[in-house]
Amino acid sequence: MLEFNNQVVIVTGAGSPKGIGRTIANTFARQGATVIVADINEAGIQDTCDFINGQGHSGKADGKVVNVTDKASVDELVKYIMEKYGRIDVLVNNAGISQKVTVEDMTVDDMKRIFSVNMFGLFQITQACVAEMKKAKYGRVVSLSSVSAKRGGGVFGGAHYSASKAGVLGFSKNLAREVAADGITVNCVAPGLINTEIWKSLPADLVKMVIDGIPAGRPGETQEVADTIVFLASKEASYITGEDIDINGGSHMD
Ligand SMILES: NC(=O)c1ccc[n+]([C@@H]2O[C@H](COP(=O)([O-])OP(=O)(O)OC[C@H]3O[C@@H](n4cnc5c(N)ncnc54)[C@H](O)[C@@H]3O)[C@@H](O)[C@H]2O)c1
Repeated sequence: MLEFNNQVVIVTGAGSPKGIGRTIANTFARQGATVIVADINEAGIQDTCDFINGQGHSGKADGKVVNVTDKASVDELVKYIMEKYGRIDVLVNNAGISQKVTVEDMTVDDMKRIFSVNMFGLFQITQACVAEMKKAKYGRVVSLSSVSAKRGGGVFGGAHYSASKAGVLGFSKNLAREVAADGITVNCVAPGLINTEIWKSLPADLVKMVIDGIPAGRPGETQEVADTIVFLASKEASYITGEDIDINGGSHMD
């Protein structure tokens, strides 16, 4: 088992009760980390922390409200962690928003809203955390892109979502080059359809259409995403950087 004893891991967007972030945070705590559950949703943070801390893991969860689009809020989060724990080993950029809309109907405000979280927010918190990782000469950044960055056409998203998630890939590859000599790796995962609440709410005919396009014949599980992220965030993945790993049951291969 990959171990994260004494490491501090931030997972943004981990306050969604049925989301991917909660499983990611739980997996890191299971493997010994102190996980900072960072979300804009305060009640969700509490729920995730209670869940994780009730599992009897060797690691633990600590919650902190953050709005990744607000620089002051991001700076406060980093200050809180550095004062309390003195280190940030891993940042998982999981917070993200989506909207189903065609380009024809999309407004500039729609575009700005999606980019403000998925791209600018990601930039803001990554910049703040990498500054601390550089001082320690160690760090791991793993960001959630999406299959829709590569092939377009999300069931839940629009072109602005695809563009923002493609931006995450380019941003990460560039940053990976900038900080590789500082012992910091920067990677992405690109999930396809994952078995979260929104998936369960889809009509049966749409579910069938989507599943027919997945060679594995099923959606992915949040644990399958979390396990890939934990590997990329481990000490063992020290020579992997600027990479993006597809987690999509074969629905897109590149
Ligand atoms: N679910 C899927 O099938 C799927 C597929 C590919 C990629 N992804 C990506 O994985 C990530 C998680 O997806 P999910 O389905 O679990 O999402 P989710 O909606 O369940 O969770 C997202 C979380 O982000 C938080 N958040 C939103 N704006 C924020 C902000 N400004 N600051 C801090 N937190 C904020 C929300 O409160 C929420 O808890 C997202 O980046 C998403 O784009 C999901």
